[in-house]
Amino acid sequence: MIENYMGRRYNDSMEKKFLKSSDNNSLQNDLVQEKEQKKFFITTPIYYATDAPHLGSAYTTIVADVYKRWLKAQGRDVFLLTGTDEHGAKVSRAAENAKMSVQTFVDEKSLKFKKAWEELGVDYDDFARTTNDGHKKKVQDFISILYQKKWIERGKYSGLYCVGCETFKLEKDFVDGKCPDHQTVPENVTEEAYFFRLSDKKLTEPLKKWVKNSVFPISRQNEVLSFIKLGLEDVAITRKNLKWGIICPWDDSNVLYVWIDALLNYWTYADGNWPPDLQIIGKDILRFHAIIWPAILLAYFDFDETKLPKKLFAHGFFTTGGQKMSKSLGNKIDPLDISQKYGSDGLRYYLLNVVNFGNDGDVSLEDFEKKYNADLANDLGNLVQRTLTLSQKYGAESLEKEDLSDFVNIVNSHFEKLEFSLAIQDIFNFIKEQNILIDQLKPWELVKTDEQAVKKLLAEILYRLEIIAGLLQPVMPEISMKIISQISGEEKKSPIFPKNL
Ligand code: MSP
Repeated sequence: MIENYMGRRYNDSMEKKFLKSSDNNSLQNDLVQEKEQKKFFITTPIYYATDAPHLGSAYTTIVADVYKRWLKAQGRDVFLLTGTDEHGAKVSRAAENAKMSVQTFVDEKSLKFKKAWEELGVDYDDFARTTNDGHKKKVQDFISILYQKKWIERGKYSGLYCVGCETFKLEKDFVDGKCPDHQTVPENVTEEAYFFRLSDKKLTEPLKKWVKNSVFPISRQNEVLSFIKLGLEDVAITRKNLKWGIICPWDDSNVLYVWIDALLNYWTYADGNWPPDLQIIGKDILRFHAIIWPAILLAYFDFDETKLPKKLFAHGFFTTGGQKMSKSLGNKIDPLDISQKYGSDGLRYYLLNVVNFGNDGDVSLEDFEKKYNADLANDLGNLVQRTLTLSQKYGAESLEKEDLSDFVNIVNSHFEKLEFSLAIQDIFNFIKEQNILIDQLKPWELVKTDEQAVKKLLAEILYRLEIIAGLLQPVMPEISMKIISQISGEEKKSPIFPKNL
């Protein structure tokens, strides 16, 4: 056992066991051969340090963690970066409302995120904070180079600014004069600003090429391409009448626009792993990540495409009862409430299974409980308990190990393509088949006529359970470990899920 950076216990030998359980897997071999110096670099957005994590931020972060764990099980070195977005009007106003100094406020909030990720089993490698001095300095260096390369020029902005979105918007983006996402009236802003020359035609073709190769799912790729087709406008990258931000290095009467500061966290915290291999975001922040971000990188790296993120995946949004989750509607589902009551693995299972990654989906506490009882407590929990009970009673013996590589390969290819719900469905169909097999063969009766057949059957199901636990490990790390420990006898048999919550 080694202690990792978060103080969570991390069992190294478990991972080796899981690796072994899929060692017939050709996909795994390909991935190992591809191994490079740089680690596979996964990023999540950095979350506004205004509140505790919600279901949306928990979802993005858990997905990133599941993919990291899956890659590690294939023998890859992975660097997972998450963090908090701590500058800008939204954060400073939240601190003002809480009557706290902004720095104390963001220190507190970022700690909340760290604790939440620990509770939800997120094994991140570094935590970016935009108020960190090292980050600030690197952002200033980066932006100064863009300025020297003449990608930034002075201008005047006049328009509508939504503090909730931390972005300038057009009249048509508002419904009845309000931002549809935040239900707030925008502010009329007229100020001097520095602009990044996003409208420069040199950017268009390289940008389109990158979007076609790197933005997923395809529906989001099309959305971005249509937007580019409409023609891009220069973007303001500084704010004048705001104090809480990184000072613009060539003009200290400005601070950098919070989104520029935030996007650059991926660069300032890359720790030698540049470029990101996979950036996971929600669909609401697609344009920042699929247009402004690659454009800035193209400009900075003089159009060297190899320096751009390899893949950007935008997932959908959760609603509950068909409605957007919001504080004012009182329909928010708190991820920590669920994990405290039912365990983090239950929540991880539910979120990854409830929608196909990329789609929108509806979630509810009732649906969570239904799935928890049916899939986890009944199907998986029962299978483990009855197989262990029967094998302790009748013994489990088999001369050879079954070749399950076809099944393992199918599940792994779903994981590789970020098809988490499909991977989970295949695993749970396999679990159901094992329960049906026990129901049909009735070992407690068969033992009267053919004891050897019963021993063989139980050994086979135990082996299949080991494979199942190995495949489920990225999604449910604690439960999988428990299953393996009970099968090996390291841990005494006990229910892995409390039933009927
Ligand atoms: N600070 C910016 C990101 C900067 S990244 C350089 C930000 N922060 S956020 O706290 O608002 O991030 C929220 C994340 O949670 C986004 O990925 C967003 O898509 C996701 N979700 C917020 N609500 C959501 C749902 N209801 N459902 C699913 N995910 C949603 O944006």
